[in-house]
Formats: sequence, structure tokens, C-alpha cells
Amino acid sequence: MRFEVIDHPLVAHKLRLLRATDTPTAIFRVVTSELVTLLAYEATRNVKTERVSITTPVAETVGWRLSQNPRPMIVPILRAGLGMLDAMMQSMPSAEVGFLGIYRNEQTLEPVTYANRLPDDLRGRQCYVIDPMLATGGTLIDTVAYLHERGARDITSICILAAPEGVAALESALSTRDDVNLSIFTAALDERLDEHGYIVPGLGDAGDRLYGSLP
Ligand code: URA
Repeated sequence: MRFEVIDHPLVAHKLRLLRATDTPTAIFRVVTSELVTLLAYEATRNVKTERVSITTPVAETVGWRLSQNPRPMIVPILRAGLGMLDAMMQSMPSAEVGFLGIYRNEQTLEPVTYANRLPDDLRGRQCYVIDPMLATGGTLIDTVAYLHERGARDITSICILAAPEGVAALESALSTRDDVNLSIFTAALDERLDEHGYIVPGLGDAGDRLYGSLP
């Protein structure tokens, strides 16, 4: 497993805005998109491309476009992952989007899958899972299992924040899936989880911050 914190001043600047409680929802959404664009830039470095002939106003030459067969697959985890989707679709306009709905049982902190809209056959597809918070790791472990069982082997997770507990849980879960190539890109590795499973210092509940369910 590859785990990478994108250490860049623009990422750090935007992350400060997301962490601050007094950042209003409208700004939170915009900054989330900006930050995801920066993370996507690194996370898609190995996305498959194909060579195509083009005609410039001056000459014939060749260029590159995102692979059309197979196309990359973006997998937002509902609901908070939707806040990252626009930026990912703008970065990879020809990508397909498949949805997974997973929520966390507040008592057990275990993930519960309640929706899925993904192709059954993901063999050869590069999957980009977007979910802002890698906390206990349960959601991403379930997502990786789901994608792996449908044939995906090349899986990239883009998250805004990660907790050490979640990263360790993924390392251990992947030991039974050694043909999965998982990369995780994040803006920061925070200190720990609190007793409610929130990332500390974190940014609170990403879904509530994005969708205004907080006052
Ligand atoms: N999910 C969130 O939205 N925030 C956390 O801190 C942890 C999980």
C-alpha cells in the first residue's frame, strides 16, 4: 500500500480554511473542490492515457488523452464524497462515475452499505475512491473489498484527512488481498481518533460541513 501526504503550501493553506469552525458552508464547499483538484493532480499521475494524432493550426503531431477503453472510474462514497465529485469530474471529464452509499453506525462505528451503482465487472479499471475522511478505515476497507470482488486491482483513494488508526486498519485488511494495488493520497495525517471516531484535530463531520446540517 502506498500512503502519501501531499505536502504543498497551497494544500496547507486550503486545509486551514476547512479545519476552521468559522468557515461558512458555501466557502467550505468551494475550498473542498479546490483542494481536491490539487490532490487529484498527484493522485492521477499514473492514470492510463492513449496516444492520438492531432492537427494544430501549424502541423500534424501527436498528443495524449485519457484512456477511453478502459475509462477511469470515479467512486464517490455517499454522502460526503459527493462534495469532492465536481473537482474529480473536471480533472477527468471522460471518467465514468459509479456510486457507493455507506454510512457509519454511530454506536458500533461499523460501515453499512445502503446503495450501490457500479458496474459488476471492474476488471482492468482504475478506480478513484473519493471520501473526505479516512477515520477508522472501515468504509474504505469495505469499498476496496467491494471493488476487488468485481475485479478491480488498481485502486486510488483520495481523502482530505487521514487518521493513523485508519491507515493501520487498511494495511492490515490488505494483507488478505495482496493483489490489490492501493494508493492513498491525503492533505494531512492527523493525530488520532477521539472516542466518537472523529479525527483529531480534524475538521468535524465532513458531510455536515458540506451540506449545512450544522448551524
Ligand atoms: N467522518 C467525518 O466526517 N469526520 C471525522 O472526523 C471522522 C469521520
